[in-house]
Amino acid sequence: MNAHDELFIRWIAALEARHLAALTFSQVSRALRALSSTYVERRQKLAGGAALSGAGKRAAFALFYGPLHHMLVTHIVETLPAARRSISTLLDLGCGTGASGVAWARSCEKPPRVIGIDRHPWAVGEAARTYRAFGMAATLRQGDIATANLPKGPAAILAAFTLNELADPAREALLAHLVSRASHGDRVLILEPLAGFVARWWNRWRDAFESAGGCADEWRLRTELPPIVAKLDRAAGLDHREITGRSLWLGGSA
Ligand SMILES: C[S@@+](CC[C@H](N)C(=O)[O-])C[C@H]1O[C@@H](n2cnc3c(N)ncnc32)[C@H](O)[C@@H]1O
Repeated sequence: MNAHDELFIRWIAALEARHLAALTFSQVSRALRALSSTYVERRQKLAGGAALSGAGKRAAFALFYGPLHHMLVTHIVETLPAARRSISTLLDLGCGTGASGVAWARSCEKPPRVIGIDRHPWAVGEAARTYRAFGMAATLRQGDIATANLPKGPAAILAAFTLNELADPAREALLAHLVSRASHGDRVLILEPLAGFVARWWNRWRDAFESAGGCADEWRLRTELPPIVAKLDRAAGLDHREITGRSLWLGGSA
C-alpha cells in the first residue's frame, strides 16, 4: 500500500500550502459544502462545468476529493493484480487534478507513460503539478473525451468519476469504444460513486463489461484520512471515514 507514503504526504502538504494561501480554511470548507451539493443535488449543472467554477470549489476539489480519489484508486488497483502489470501507456479520461491517474500509474510494476485529458484548463494545469509532485512523466491535454481522438493502445484506460458528467449519447458511444478496445488488449477501469442515482446507466455498462469477461465491484475503504482532509470533512458536515465507490474492470483476469 503506497497511499500514505512520503510522496503522498508531501503532495498533500503542498496542496494545503498552495490552496490555503489565497483562501481561508472556512472559505474552502464552505466551497466544499457547495461542491458536494453540486455532485449530489444539482447534478444537471455538472455538464456545464459548475463543479470547477470558482477558486473555492477548485481548492476544495484539489485538496479534498483529490486525496480521497487517490486513496481509493490505489486500493482498487492493488486489489486487482492484473491492473498493475506493466503497460506502456496509461490514458486518464477526465483526469481532473490527476489524483486518480497518478495513483494507478505509480502502482504499476513499471511506470507507464501517462496521457491525461480534461476539458477544463485549470484541471490540466493542476494535473501537471500532481505528476511532477510524484516525479512521473505525463502529457496533459485540454480536450473533450467525447470527441477527442484517443491515443492508440496498448493502454490502460481510466475514467474515474468522469463518465457521469457526459451527455448520454457521448457516454454510450464511449462504452462501445472501450469494450472494443479491451477486446484488442487494452485494460479499462471505470469508477463512479456508489449512489445509484449518480449513474443510472451503471447496470447496462456492468452487463456489457461482464459479458465481455470483465468484473464489477463495490468498494468501502476504511482508512485514516490525511489530517487536512479529515478536518475539511468535519467542517463541511460530510462523513468520509469510509471511502466508497464502484468500479468496472475489463482487460485481464483480476
Ligand atoms: C469529478 S472530476 C474527476 C477527476 C479525476 N478523474 C479524479 O478521479 O479525481 C470529473 C472531471 O471530468 C472532467 N470532464 C467532464 N466531462 C468531460 C469531457 N467531456 N471531456 C473531458 N473532461 C471532462 C471535468 O472537467 C472534471 O475534471
